Parts: sequence; C-alpha cells; structure tokens
Amino acid sequence: MDPPAIRQHSHSGVYTDGADLYTRSTTDVRPGGERVVKGDNGHDYRSFPPNGTKLAAIVKMGVTNWPFTSGSRVLYLGAGAGTTVSYMADVCPQGQIYAVEFAPEPFRSLLEVARRRSNVVPILADARTPAAYTTQVGRPVDVVYQDVAQRDQWDIAHRNALALLAPDGWVVLVVKASSVDVARPATEVYADVRSVIRSSAFRLEEVVDLEPFDREHAVFIVRRS
Ligand SMILES: C[S@@+](CC[C@H](N)C(=O)[O-])C[C@H]1O[C@@H](n2cnc3c(N)ncnc32)[C@H](O)[C@@H]1O
Repeated sequence: MDPPAIRQHSHSGVYTDGADLYTRSTTDVRPGGERVVKGDNGHDYRSFPPNGTKLAAIVKMGVTNWPFTSGSRVLYLGAGAGTTVSYMADVCPQGQIYAVEFAPEPFRSLLEVARRRSNVVPILADARTPAAYTTQVGRPVDVVYQDVAQRDQWDIAHRNALALLAPDGWVVLVVKASSVDVARPATEVYADVRSVIRSSAFRLEEVVDLEPFDREHAVFIVRRS
C-alpha cells in the first residue's frame, strides 16, 4: 500500500499525512536523526514529533493562534542545541531566526545547526540583556519565542519584547512550572503567569497545556497590543 500523501496543515509551514506532522526540509542535515519521507512532489519532509519538540507539541495540542508565517523574523530565547530552532527554520524559510543561548556547550551544537541554514543567526548571549544583541537583530521581530526554563521566564520574554518586538507582534512563552517553583502545583504557577501577563500591556490570547508530551509545561500565546 502507498504511504498517505503529505499535505499542507492549516498552520503555515506545517505538513501532515493525516496522522503525523512534518516540516519541509531546507537542508539534508537532521539534528535529531529524525525520519525523512519523500512527498509525491519530490520534496523531503522531516518528521516533526510532538514528543521531540515543543513546537510540534503546540500544534498537536490544537493551538489556534499560530503566529508563524514563511517570512517571520523570530527572536528565539533559550535555543539550546538547536533542535526546535532547526524546525522553526523550516517553518519560516524566508524569515530569520535569531537564536540566543548562553551556555557554551549547547551553543556549539547550535552553531552546527546554523552553519547549514542561511536563516539562522546564532547569538551567544544572556537573554536577560537584550541590549547585547539589539544591533545584531536590527529591526523589530514578528515573534519572540521563549524557552529558557528559568524562574523569571515572563520577565525575560517581556524585557525582550519591549526592546525588539514589532507593535502587533507575538510572544510565545513556554512555561516550565517546576523551573518557576518546584514545590507548587503547575496550575498555581500558570495562574500566576496569567495574572502577570494580564497586568502588562500585552494581551493573553491562548494557553496550550503540553501534557502528555511535556509534563508540567504550558505555552502562553501573547500579543503586543
Ligand atoms: C529547555 S532548554 C531549550 C531547549 C530548546 N529550546 C529546544 O526546544 O530545542 C533551555 C535552554 O535555555 C538556556 N538558557 C537559560 N537561561 C538563559 C539565558 N538567561 N540566556 C540564554 N539562554 C538561557 C539554557 O542554557 C538551555 O539551553
């Protein structure tokens, strides 16, 4: 039996065969050794697994506000070794991903991811000081994506958004509850994050719980208004 055809998902830059998710590869390098299938149009599609990257988990959990387009400029805070950055580069092939990471070891792997992609700019810096990379980013970005897993997650995202986000831009805030407070239930931590966002000049559009793919993680989709 032929494999099911791969078609465009309702979210820009995401593809599906009806069961699994894919992105369209912009390179033959696969950071996680993930499966690649050939579409009937001849393009290569990389498996985009919800248990391998929170970006896919958001889609699988049914996010309705998908802020990415093929040309999005994204400031990515907490890039790690670049797994999700590599998928974001597929999702925004005409855009630019400014990937900030402060730990030298994952940064070395991030450099490898960036070396094979013309739309990834790796930045070795502390995301608490956006002034350190404002010049490198240049003009405002469309999306700030934050996955630093620190106690002051909203504060870091907010500071970057004030410095570098376009007036109607989006913040995608990954909240790891145990990084905020290991002793409190995740629901209480999320309630605090909701109220701090609501007391800011930003608008909370949606909260996506990542269970069962990532335990005690939720993604807050926020818009600058
Ligand atoms: C959860 S991991 C990121 C995983 C990555 N986003 C992915 O999905 O492939 C969090 C990363 O944030 C980085 N990080 C934490 N605080 C940071 C800061 N203040 N500035 C820059 N990077 C930071 C850590 O070194 C770590 O690599």
